Amino acid sequence: MTQGTPTSERPLRISVIGTNYLGANTAAGMAEFGFDVIGVEIDEHRLKLLNDGKAPLYEPGLDPLLKKHVDSGRLRFTKDYTEIADWADVHFICVGTPQTEGSDAADLSQVNSVVDMLAPGLTRPCLVVGRSTVPVGTAKLVEQRFQTEAPAGEGIELAWQPEFLREAHGVEDTLHPDRLVFGVETEAAETRLRQVFAQPIAEGTPVVVCNRPTAELVKGGANAFLATKISFINALAEMADAAGADVTQLADALGHDKRIGRGMLNAGPGYGGGCLPKDLRSFMARAGELGVEEVITLLREVDDINQRRRGRIVDVVHELLGAEWVGKKVTVLGAAFKAGTDDVRDSPALDVAGRIQLHGATVTVYDPEAMENARQVRPTLRYAASAAEACEGAHLVLHLTEWPEFRELDPAALRGAVENPVVVDARLSLDSKKWRDAGWTYKAPGKP
Ligand code: UDX
Repeated sequence: MTQGTPTSERPLRISVIGTNYLGANTAAGMAEFGFDVIGVEIDEHRLKLLNDGKAPLYEPGLDPLLKKHVDSGRLRFTKDYTEIADWADVHFICVGTPQTEGSDAADLSQVNSVVDMLAPGLTRPCLVVGRSTVPVGTAKLVEQRFQTEAPAGEGIELAWQPEFLREAHGVEDTLHPDRLVFGVETEAAETRLRQVFAQPIAEGTPVVVCNRPTAELVKGGANAFLATKISFINALAEMADAAGADVTQLADALGHDKRIGRGMLNAGPGYGGGCLPKDLRSFMARAGELGVEEVITLLREVDDINQRRRGRIVDVVHELLGAEWVGKKVTVLGAAFKAGTDDVRDSPALDVAGRIQLHGATVTVYDPEAMENARQVRPTLRYAASAAEACEGAHLVLHLTEWPEFRELDPAALRGAVENPVVVDARLSLDSKKWRDAGWTYKAPGKP
């Protein structure tokens, strides 16, 4: 199979379908690798932003990279599939796979609609590469659809090449991944992927070449393991609370063991975001379909610990605020699911803020980047223009997203603005001594 015919006279042509976190980073990254790239985005507003070299989301370092390659002419965006179908040698599928309404399974409708839109225009052989996170077994089904519905038929090959990019580090993780996983069924597909990723491979990035089900499982497995690590340390935070121990020191000491490692061992309000929670649930749903129930038992507990964490923070607020919440003002520092992003999908911060509001308190939120998104998801919360403004008259301040800005707050100055100097550091990352020295009651679940 020839999979497109780039010649030595022209660079490889790459299309990237979907332009959210994954797609926007992939498109900019492929242009940086030296290829000609067209991204597909069907929303007019987002399309205009992208063609102006602006990401439709907050991601450090992404705007300059988009701008660089929109200006160089190597990168542009369209909503028209006919522009990419026969133009590209390689098509990357980077659309979302959210959780299905009312079920744990992944919703593959966006992947299916890519096939609907792209297949009729594919008249010459090419490689389609899935990067979206999907249940194991999806690649085979998607390939069957392409081969049945595209004029080029069996000339269309499908590879799965999962990505592992973290929001707030998307550019770095795209340009310098810590590993590349090529789920392929033929040597031609492997050769083409090695050509696409020649730059990181030359830098020494390890490549794992495997079949497609393995590649699909790597992504789900990595996310399930990371979620397990976070829930494990959060379970230890509960033990630390009961025993008078310090979970951060515990994590440091455990992390020095090379077999364990310190990464993903920060106790806190639990994992959130657009990936880990829904990927874990979709992994469980698929394990159930495949008849391997034991996997579900383990991961169900991981998910339960994660949910319990949010309730634990509300309990701590309860202990400190007393039984009567009506008329009490609570300041929530942070709305994003983690620092460095404006993403509020399944954000523990907003969930906890909402729960506290339901108990009758007035909740005022401040976040350096995620205010607009937070307002859309939780319009009934109050929002302030700065941390200091959010703290005015507060009976309790709750630190829920670990932005550096919050670590730099001056507790002595804030002391005068609040009604009661009580802070709950759910991220365990404020300087407890500084807050206590300034006269605050400092409480962090998991620390004595
Ligand atoms: C994650 C995976 O890391 C990435 O490989 C995958 O491709 C997508 O999902 P991301 O959602 O950007 O990336 O966030 P990550 O940095 O992994 O954090 C996930 C959640 O876990 C956040 O809510 C974060 O606050 C929380 N977390 C992370 C902890 O509670 N403790 C930690 O030690 C690390």
